[in-house]
Amino acid sequence: ASTLAAAAEQSGRYFGTAVAANKLGDSTYVGILNREFDMVTAENEMKMDATEPNQGQFSFSNGDRILNQARNQGKRVRGHALAWHSQQPGWMQNMSGSALRSAMLNHVTQVASYYKGKVYAWDVVNEAFADGGGGGRRDSNLQRTGNDWIEAAFRAARSADPNAKLCYNDYNTDNWSNAKTQGVYNMVRDFKSRGVPIDCVGFQAHFNSGNPVPSNYHTTLGNFAALGVDVQITELDIEGSGSGQAQQFQGVTQACLAVARCTGITVWGIRDSDSWRSSGTPLLFDGSGNKKAAYTSVLNAL
Ligand code: XIL
Repeated sequence: ASTLAAAAEQSGRYFGTAVAANKLGDSTYVGILNREFDMVTAENEMKMDATEPNQGQFSFSNGDRILNQARNQGKRVRGHALAWHSQQPGWMQNMSGSALRSAMLNHVTQVASYYKGKVYAWDVVNEAFADGGGGGRRDSNLQRTGNDWIEAAFRAARSADPNAKLCYNDYNTDNWSNAKTQGVYNMVRDFKSRGVPIDCVGFQAHFNSGNPVPSNYHTTLGNFAALGVDVQITELDIEGSGSGQAQQFQGVTQACLAVARCTGITVWGIRDSDSWRSSGTPLLFDGSGNKKAAYTSVLNAL
């Protein structure tokens, strides 16, 4: 295969990227997007602040630009994200209690209903667990509405779009020995045992020298998959350059390929210059759109 998507499709997987609506006029960007990828995540345009800027007033125009561009090219879309402590609209940030709970559930229902039948999967809840050794929930206005806010969000999403895969998505959950990984694992196991609707777990996979690709990544992915969920690499980027970076990208790709229910990999941007990181070269194409060593190592590992 000569593209990431075609290589991933050989094993029934997808290869995706984050897309920014304001770059859809950049012909180099769109050329690589159309050629290499078969799954798209809106980098910001389907988040809470973008889709409900005023309470009860929904705005889907930028999300639609990304969704329509992708679907017109035969690509699928991962919705990102229905409920999150970050990038909340201003009106929501200081809400609490039952008013916030109903506003959050209404948001999930309205956005998932609008995109019903058009997205392959939703990141229903993003980043709800705390960093560090405790393995517990992150403190946030949503968490303070009650520990059941996550399952309430998943039930609302299932009712609104019964055919979308519903995912929990987080970072620093790659290493099996990390307490945060165990916390998410225990929640997913509990959801499956009680029939809370959850279909998939997303691993953001933002790596750097302080947080490298763990050697037990395939174990983590395999243990989650054994709970009866699909797993996906959802926001992959790796700081570094040259062959060291290429090797780490290869390791992530091999970890996914080693797990039958790892259904796809998404990188968080196309060229290094498109990355959300303030510095560095964490992606598969350089600023001019040329393929890097990391690109070749991923292509060959798929
Ligand atoms: C980032 C975007 O890439 C930036 O453009 C934005 O300023 C902040 O959010 N985890 C996530 C993504 O789930 O939504 C974040 O995206 C990166 C970290």
